[in-house]
Amino acid sequence: MITLTHNIESFDSLAADRIVRQIINKPDSVIGLSTGRTTGAMHRILASRIVDEDIDVSRVTFFGLDEVTGVDPTFPGACVAMLKNELIDKIGYKDCDFLMLPTSSLDFAGSCREFADELKSRGGIDFLVLGLGENGHLGFNQPGSPFGCTARVTDMDPALYSRLCAESGRTGLRGATLGIKDIMHARHILLVAKGANKTQIAAQMLLGPVTEDLPASVLQLHPSVEFLFDADAAALIPDNSIC
Ligand code: GLP
Repeated sequence: MITLTHNIESFDSLAADRIVRQIINKPDSVIGLSTGRTTGAMHRILASRIVDEDIDVSRVTFFGLDEVTGVDPTFPGACVAMLKNELIDKIGYKDCDFLMLPTSSLDFAGSCREFADELKSRGGIDFLVLGLGENGHLGFNQPGSPFGCTARVTDMDPALYSRLCAESGRTGLRGATLGIKDIMHARHILLVAKGANKTQIAAQMLLGPVTEDLPASVLQLHPSVEFLFDADAAALIPDNSIC
């Protein structure tokens, strides 16, 4: 299903509302979140709704899809710092479970395996929010990532790498991420994309071939996915595809 929103406010509140509905329908949901420019406001609205409407999240597991490695977890560009700041700290850290891939580890392969196993032991991913990279990446799964890949550490795209190195004063940063196979096992996916920098890639993701050269195109094969766009992101998608 493709949903088009008419302004940024309705985009953010609709996305937050999808998560609220998931929590109400299944109070022990395992919910995956993505960080970046697209999801910050959505997380803040979600936090306000949880607090203002006294929504019970005591049995919810929130987790982050991916993480920057080689930085301190308090670095503002770390996914854990963003999610804590935008959502988790605002709703009371202890009131829900919050799982992240590590920013540092002596054994990243083992840490990634443990993270994926922990999600499985909690019943698997019920609801996964995905952002869309400008080159079609999902999490840190860059173009060329095999559709069968699982949680691991990868390189990030050069633009993000340069920005995060400059901000953190470190080099050698990489990205820990759930793999495409893990993503495809989520029971329901909400892909969110807004802004003119996503116009081309959103259309290619939905209308182009399913190919490992464009990781997000794999979502065409997922049985339960909603694509939420603003008008800019949806500009090249034909009206008759949108409901
Ligand atoms: C980043 C993150 C993704 C995120 C995506 C979109 O690199 N690793 O998890 O969803 O790119 O980010 P933005 O919303 O800032 O465009």
